[in-house]
Amino acid sequence: MNSKHQISPLFLTIFFLLVLGCTASPRKNIRSRRPCKEMVFYFHDIIYNGKNFKNATAAIVGSPAWGNKTILANNNHFGNVVVFDDPITMDNNLHSPPVGRAQGFYIYDKKEIFTAWLGFSFVFNSTAHKGSINFAGADPLMNKTRDISVIGGTGDFFMTRGVATIMTDSFEGEVYFRLRVDIKFYECW
Ligand SMILES: *[C@@H]1O[C@H](CO)[C@@H](O)[C@H](O)[C@H]1NC(C)=O
Ligand SMILES: *[C@@H]1O[C@H](CO)[C@@H](O)[C@H](O)[C@H]1NC(C)=O
Ligand SMILES: *[C@@H]1O[C@H](CO)[C@@H](O)[C@H](O)[C@H]1NC(C)=O
Ligand SMILES: *[C@@H]1O[C@H](CO)[C@@H](O)[C@H](O)[C@H]1NC(C)=O
Repeated sequence: MNSKHQISPLFLTIFFLLVLGCTASPRKNIRSRRPCKEMVFYFHDIIYNGKNFKNATAAIVGSPAWGNKTILANNNHFGNVVVFDDPITMDNNLHSPPVGRAQGFYIYDKKEIFTAWLGFSFVFNSTAHKGSINFAGADPLMNKTRDISVIGGTGDFFMTRGVATIMTDSFEGEVYFRLRVDIKFYECW
């Protein structure tokens, strides 16, 4: 009877610690998966097509042997490399005042379906934001939304990381498209 009373507080303490340990770790995971910051932007890509030099913000710089650099190649543009310097806006209007530039390239990388690989930066130099956000990743264009990595940043976005959900917001032939970029940062400084 006496020994039973001595064991039970110890047992209770261990039991309590185990319960604490089990409940604490999932809670920590959930917290770390919540973004520390979220931003939404649009950017506008006008591809040079031989006639729109003044308006164009992107150019084909690489083409497979069966294509040329004026028109995107057959077979889902496989092999085309496009360099861009696109205006970034806060809403979906091409004519809204740009808040920065989306600069980089995309590569069409599959013959059978439309897919691309993106590598670019958002470059900001305004009173609202100074610095850059760097993006990289696969862009399966046929999917309504695609996630690419936010791999780093500078200035206001120093050392940031996260995931950007990209959506094709508009598409006009092979000359203009607009992407909506929903950036969720999981590391903020
Ligand atoms: C520039 O391109 C946009 C999008 O295709 C178009 O709406 C606009 O009319 C063009 N402007 C000129 C001057 O070509
Ligand atoms: C580029 O290729 C397209 C068809 O793929 C053709 O219509 C066009 O004339 C070509 N342009 C040049 C400059 O070769
Ligand atoms: C940023 O803007 C300022 C003020 O307009 C300008 O002096 C500076 O050269 C710009 N920097 C870059 C990297 O464009
Ligand atoms: C794209 O969509 C297809 C079908 O809707 C799905 O099976 C696939 O997993 C998606 N790919 C990505 C990378 O989200």
